[in-house]
Amino acid sequence: MVIAELKALIAEKKLTIKMIGNEIDTSVTCDKERIMQVIHNLLSNAIKFSPPDSVITIAFSYTTIEDKSGARKQLINKQSAIRVDVKDEGIGVPINELETIFDQFVQSSKTNTGAGGTGLGLAICKEIIEGHKGVIKAHSIFGQGTTISFSLPLQTQTSTAYTEQDSEDNFTENSDHKRTDTSNNSL
Ligand SMILES: Nc1ncnc2c1ncn2[C@@H]1O[C@H](COP(=O)(O)OP(=O)(O)OP(=O)(O)O)[C@@H](O)[C@H]1O
Ligand SMILES: [Mg+2]
Repeated sequence: MVIAELKALIAEKKLTIKMIGNEIDTSVTCDKERIMQVIHNLLSNAIKFSPPDSVITIAFSYTTIEDKSGARKQLINKQSAIRVDVKDEGIGVPINELETIFDQFVQSSKTNTGAGGTGLGLAICKEIIEGHKGVIKAHSIFGQGTTISFSLPLQTQTSTAYTEQDSEDNFTENSDHKRTDTSNNSL
């Protein structure tokens, strides 16, 4: 569904979308609409910053998330999670900007031409993923493409932090969370 929406842009740039690991069971308890919004934002960035005739890879795998935020940061809680990588062969992001691009209205020094985009997409992705107790990170070698990866815990969690932290935002509909599938069937 996400890909269908972006189809015209993909065709225009003659991009190839490659899926890896989409056969794995990616069922997680999440707000499906929000997670699809994350994938849509990441894919639309990848398309926007990719050169013509290049490849965008969406890879699914299993990983673990280490939560060190327990009391006195001593309790390290390792959780099984699924990981989604959206990798492109575009301009890349300088190493010192890999964290700031997740801030609101921040665009990388290599792409902040003022053309297109408000610098909100990744900030929204971060809110959504962290609201699900997940992690989102950017990796890039400048000039050689960018990979944005997010991980979502496999286990169901009732997250009080989620509602408290995000109560001012639109993420209060915890009742909407349902077991869903982020695999290619939904893309
Ligand atoms: N795949 C990528 N390749 C290179 N730079 C990227 C990539 N993804 C994000 N960036 C950089 O991070 C910035 C922030 O991305 P973000 O999605 O938050 O905003 P945007 O795409 O500029 O605007 P919006 O998403 O609000 O339309 C981008 O403007 C760009 O500079
Ligand atoms: Mg964007």
